[in-house]
Amino acid sequence: MTANKAKMILEKDFKVGEIDNRIYGSFIEHLGRAVYGGVFEPNHPEADENGFRKDVINLVRELQVPLVRYPGGNFVSGYNWEDGVGPVESRPRRLDLAWRTTETNEVGTNEFMKWAKLVGADVNMAVNLGTRGIDAARNLVEYCNHPGGSYYSDLRASHGVKEPYNIKTWCLGNEMDGPWQIGHKTAAEYGRIAQEAAKVMKWVDPSIELVACGSSHRNMPTFADWEATVLDHTYDHVDYISLHQYYGNQSNDVANYLALSLEMDDFISSVISIADYVKAKKRSKKKINLSFDEWNVWYHSNENDKLIEPWSIAPHQLEDIYNFEDALLVGCMLITMLKHADRLKIACLAQLVNVIAPIMTEDNGPAWKQTIFYPYMHTSVYGRGVSLNPIVSSPKYDSKDFTDVPYLESTAVYNEEKEQLTIFAVNRHLEEGLLLECDIRNFEDYQVVEHIVLENDDIKAENSAEKQKVEPHTNGNAEWKDGIITAVLPKLSWNVIRLEKR
Ligand code: AHR
Repeated sequence: MTANKAKMILEKDFKVGEIDNRIYGSFIEHLGRAVYGGVFEPNHPEADENGFRKDVINLVRELQVPLVRYPGGNFVSGYNWEDGVGPVESRPRRLDLAWRTTETNEVGTNEFMKWAKLVGADVNMAVNLGTRGIDAARNLVEYCNHPGGSYYSDLRASHGVKEPYNIKTWCLGNEMDGPWQIGHKTAAEYGRIAQEAAKVMKWVDPSIELVACGSSHRNMPTFADWEATVLDHTYDHVDYISLHQYYGNQSNDVANYLALSLEMDDFISSVISIADYVKAKKRSKKKINLSFDEWNVWYHSNENDKLIEPWSIAPHQLEDIYNFEDALLVGCMLITMLKHADRLKIACLAQLVNVIAPIMTEDNGPAWKQTIFYPYMHTSVYGRGVSLNPIVSSPKYDSKDFTDVPYLESTAVYNEEKEQLTIFAVNRHLEEGLLLECDIRNFEDYQVVEHIVLENDDIKAENSAEKQKVEPHTNGNAEWKDGIITAVLPKLSWNVIRLEKR
């Protein structure tokens, strides 16, 4: 038995809010081997008649990804969407200045929409507000969503797609606050172009929802002012403001690394405050919600990426190989986002295949699951319904950059329709198990059906095509007695305690 003990109380009526399934979204950019060699590899033994890898499709389906952001990322700020439609043989090869590679345009809007349909996901389409602008943006909405009888909708039909896609969620550019971005802008410059693009995109299709670019990360020098200025311009025309954040354990300090989700929590709360400040300033009745449309761990591949030959086609780029501690932080980040389900409506794990991704492929070889695949899959599959607001008390620790870090990071999701209750929990303790006592009060007749655990003696353990060293097991010891769940959460572990009504 363990000396560390944490308590939690769950009530059906203590709710954060309904979870928007799009919170389990992901991202595919024309970058590295995400598209070419990941999604699309026509000569692969597993390729279907479209050239899509069936092994990858199956893994994406396992994750139940509801939404995929596309086609970038930094790439979109130099992308001409017209290059990627129509006969493949007449599509141009272009220099992609964002990643210093060559884009062949073999895959474009229609191919990607076909793939998304096969994996069962909607698409979160980004428009280029770097080198292009209002005109290209409104034309793309017309191409994708207008039923017919106009130049671009008829062009789509002539490309073999009669029915409109009715893409609902659109991003107004990407990371426009960053000097690395093609067409980098000041907040006022971006605010104006985003406002005008949003206005005409919605004139083409009033049913769409739009995401304005927030800061590229919390430590951008313009953070907070950027959001306030952008929303000042766009408030009446957009629906979401974006957040992006990547973390890394460069200093090899596990306790501090696992606490980074506290910073993410603060980032989310800050952006909510800024959005509500603009609401107050405008005396508006409208609420702007949040789209965390890039989040993950990203740092392992930084040195390798410096060696990439410029202008190569689909090089091995941003191919982070994740270890066990990364899976724990990803789990903490997912829990953090669930805690904000009332305002955080979209989130995209960046990215999905090969590029800082849960799914990896070998060229002409197998596809395999990274360590981070598991917390992402568990939350996506079992975390649908209502995000509950648990009362939690946990022992705490201090780390280099944080004070009062709870050893227990936890939340719960109630699926009323399926009569399921799921507790997601990370034990951040480096050496000891944590005894969790969870009072589930008014969840009468609920019993434990499974306690999934992801644990490993080696915090740096990685998976590969040959071996899954980090894999969940279902031997967790959670049990129910008189309305209380008790479970020992092993040291450094990700836990999913699943309950169902008897
Ligand atoms: O996801 C990789 C890159 O990270 C994206 O292209 C960009 O938006 C961010 O900086």
